[in-house]
Amino acid sequence: MSRTALVTGGAGGIGRAVCARLAAEGDTVLLADLDPGAVADAASAIGAGVVPWALDVADAGSRRAAVARAGELGGVDLLVNCAGVLRDARIRTLEPSTFRRLIEINLVGPLALTRLAAGGMAERGRGAVVNVASRAWLGTFGSTAYSTAKGGLIGATRSLALELGPRGITVNAVAPGFVETPMTDGLPAEIRRRSIAAIPVGRAGTPEDAAAAVAYLAGAGYVTGQVLVACGGRSIGAPYAAGRS
Ligand SMILES: NC(=O)c1ccc[n+]([C@@H]2O[C@H](COP(=O)([O-])OP(=O)(O)OC[C@H]3O[C@@H](n4cnc5c(N)ncnc54)[C@H](O)[C@@H]3O)[C@@H](O)[C@H]2O)c1
Repeated sequence: MSRTALVTGGAGGIGRAVCARLAAEGDTVLLADLDPGAVADAASAIGAGVVPWALDVADAGSRRAAVARAGELGGVDLLVNCAGVLRDARIRTLEPSTFRRLIEINLVGPLALTRLAAGGMAERGRGAVVNVASRAWLGTFGSTAYSTAKGGLIGATRSLALELGPRGITVNAVAPGFVETPMTDGLPAEIRRRSIAAIPVGRAGTPEDAAAAVAYLAGAGYVTGQVLVACGGRSIGAPYAAGRS
């Protein structure tokens, strides 16, 4: 059945791949992101089935407008909370204002959007929410604020699954590992090298790898409250022993 999907961060690396994947599966996709130009470019590059929309997930009026626009397309059947920022520092230099901003975009925005979208889903008796968290939730050196926000998103995913399950709504999370996108392009070369070297499958993730996990959870009607860690094995935790036999 064709759905209307609202995808935040839709002009970014992973979000754009999610929009392309859902559109290819026949969904109508509201591709929502901050910059109207980037939104228009991403939507036209994907083509049919994608509607561009400018959204700031940290702004209440903007969130309401996005859900209202999705209402004109039939109402949000699938919400993919993919917008996110990684602006972090070690705790001694982490300004409270940076911490608040990360929480606002990575945690408060997704929860507020879920609150808005869940009403219509409950009326229709069906819906799905997929939150894009991060493997960083398990702990990442120098990423306390980001890990905190993503860990919060996972706690919310599990609690909302309990609350919304009886209304026919599933709530799940994808926790990608290191994915090659504009977000990771900006990392220092040595951090990138070490991050990729620690991935058991031997390569960084692609946006399409993450999108495949999102698409699975978006359609897995009997799976709820789960976290799908799509990280090439990085989260397993054992020392990587490449080359030893
Ligand atoms: N790239 C990775 O290695 C990785 C790993 C784990 C999780 N993630 C998560 O995946 C998601 C997508 O990240 P990405 O790697 O594609 O990065 P990206 O920077 O390419 O995309 C993020 C998008 O979010 C948008 N955005 C930021 N603030 C926004 C706001 N206030 N309102 C609306 N949109 C906003 C940006 O404009 C951007 O297009 C993020 O939630 C990120 O935390 C990424």
